Amino acid sequence: MKGALTLINGNIYSPEEAKISIFDRGFLFGDSIYEVTISHDRKLLFFDEHLSRFQRSAKLIGLDLDFTKEIITENAIKLLQAFNEENAYIRMIVTRGIDEIALNPSNNIKQNLIMITKKAPFYESILYDKGIYLNLVERKRNDKEALDPNAKSGNYLNNILAIKEAKKSNAYDAIMENQKGEVTEGTTFNIWFIKNKQIFTPHAKSGLLEGITRAKLLEFCRNAKLDVQEVTCTKEDFYNADEVFITSSTKGIMPVYQLNSRVYHEKLSDNSITKKLMNLYNENVKVHLNETPYIF
Ligand SMILES: Cc1ncc(COP(=O)(O)O)c(C=O)c1O
Repeated sequence: MKGALTLINGNIYSPEEAKISIFDRGFLFGDSIYEVTISHDRKLLFFDEHLSRFQRSAKLIGLDLDFTKEIITENAIKLLQAFNEENAYIRMIVTRGIDEIALNPSNNIKQNLIMITKKAPFYESILYDKGIYLNLVERKRNDKEALDPNAKSGNYLNNILAIKEAKKSNAYDAIMENQKGEVTEGTTFNIWFIKNKQIFTPHAKSGLLEGITRAKLLEFCRNAKLDVQEVTCTKEDFYNADEVFITSSTKGIMPVYQLNSRVYHEKLSDNSITKKLMNLYNENVKVHLNETPYIF
């Protein structure tokens, strides 16, 4: 992993030096949680919200987090300062720790706090001017009752299988339904559709990760008195939609020009609602960044 810098339990390592035990439960079982956000001009985007979700994910996997928000922040700032990149990506991971090889974790094992930073990903402008082609795949999203997708855990096999399936059709990425045929989310993003000027996104009860970008966009839309609703929805809702887009911390809002064989547009129109939401989101991000205390 070139062009990255890492932190393990408070110490900074080059990517070559960064090592973690093969007896770590994160490696053996995906028994870990993580968060990802980016910085703009040394200011971390919605960092407090990411820290809160970290705590929520820990709860959902029965992990009594050893690290407070303050400790996690201190470590993140230390790493970002050392990396010295204005527009950075940061991944923060907590594993349940090193243990005997047994599913049931021992008491009192020490959690590992690991962070990786690199340059924020660059997405070509065509991905925003035109958008992406998505596949609704056969692979179903993990059932909420089995492994709640709302826990951002280190177990991403479900999503890996979905994107691999989408790539067979040369799609950019995949979205998944749950076992009841309700559309949930993409492999690393939430999904939205617009019909008759109304904005919709799948309801959390369908089983999905409640993205920070999703929560923020819902808030910005409601503040702007736009008609936005969380609904249980099917693939037909998406095929019949006027516009579709995705949200994530690293991508922001990205339009979708095609879903399976349904083509929405060739080029995103300036009059589209997606475009207006992109502007609304970007304006609010600017305000947030000007006010954030999470600066390095
Ligand atoms: C499965 C899944 N859904 C949604 C998202 C979007 O979440 P956020 O907006 O917090 O980046 C992610 C982000 O990685 C994800 O992994």
